[in-house]
Amino acid sequence: MSRIFSGIQPSGALHIGNYLGAVENWVELQHKYDSFFCIVDYHAITVPYEPADLVARTRDMAVSLLAAGIDPSKSSLFVQSMVPEHTELAWILNTVTPLGELERQTQFKEKTAKDESILAGILNYPVLQAADILLYKADLVPVGEDQVQHLELSREVSRRWNAKFDSNSAEGFFPEPKPLLTPTRRIMGLDGQAKMSKSLGNTIDLLEEPAQIWEKLRPAMTDPARKRREDPGTPEVCNIYSLHRAFSPPDLVETVAVNCRTAGWGCIDCKKALAQSMENDLAPIRERAKEITANPKMVAAALDAGAGKARGVAQATMKEVKQKMGLA
Ligand code: AMP
Ligand code: TRP
Repeated sequence: MSRIFSGIQPSGALHIGNYLGAVENWVELQHKYDSFFCIVDYHAITVPYEPADLVARTRDMAVSLLAAGIDPSKSSLFVQSMVPEHTELAWILNTVTPLGELERQTQFKEKTAKDESILAGILNYPVLQAADILLYKADLVPVGEDQVQHLELSREVSRRWNAKFDSNSAEGFFPEPKPLLTPTRRIMGLDGQAKMSKSLGNTIDLLEEPAQIWEKLRPAMTDPARKRREDPGTPEVCNIYSLHRAFSPPDLVETVAVNCRTAGWGCIDCKKALAQSMENDLAPIRERAKEITANPKMVAAALDAGAGKARGVAQATMKEVKQKMGLA
């Protein structure tokens, strides 16, 4: 069975961009693949944070992932810092990673554009990500579009390590991991200006109550051509329409498109319909999250079991890696 690996940072609540771009796909794929899903706390510490907050965010992320449908009896869900081999392999992969490739990463350039003092952890972030994936020799990585460039780098690192330390084998010790994208590979924020992102504060969180969601949807950006109620619009350019495509059944999506083009509905009607579709999908997840939150022992047991399975694979990989590299 092919193996998949993916990670998510515990840097805030799980939002619908994460859900539609990645996590919803994980839930489906866990039935088809040997699956490892990791809450990547070592990645999250590359930006300033409070230790007590990180503890809470890591726990909340585990609750959200379980509520979204990650099943610990099907896949290994664990926290990155519970498996020290991630950082061990990251160091090793640093020694085959060209500096120029790291400096070229869009996310590095974005994150450091305004900073005067740039920390090495931000630069080396994608090397740790390559280590995460290669430690499990995962072939496929279900992520959103923003991670495609990081995966290109993972493939390059894999090729370089293989060429140096495993040049005799035909297959290559490490695979070249490929992204698995969803139809909703990039969800825009409610301002319609940039991708939905925790750091931009333009998110709808998976566990938000309907009243809060409505507070955010009501003023959300729509097709700028629809200034007045009577102005017809173009659904394809409207972020609310793209959310309908993710949350609403096909006949409603069609109704929305027709009523947008003909100005049959105002934008507010369209948003009300979206709020209802979202509630249909999200209410059961919210309910499960409440049950899971009330049972912290279950969460701890799931993460322990996941880390146990992860450690088994990670230790076996590291043993071979060290042997091939002449390390003790
Ligand atoms: P992060 O929150 O940065 O750790 O991202 C976790 C996963 O969600 C990654 O696979 C991202 O590619 C995906 N993701 C994050 N934001 C979005 C978005 N706005 N649209 C689609 N996927 C996203
Ligand atoms: N960099 C990813 C993000 O911000 C998170 C991540 C860390 C990851 N390690 C990974 C994703 C390994 C996929 C595979 O979304």
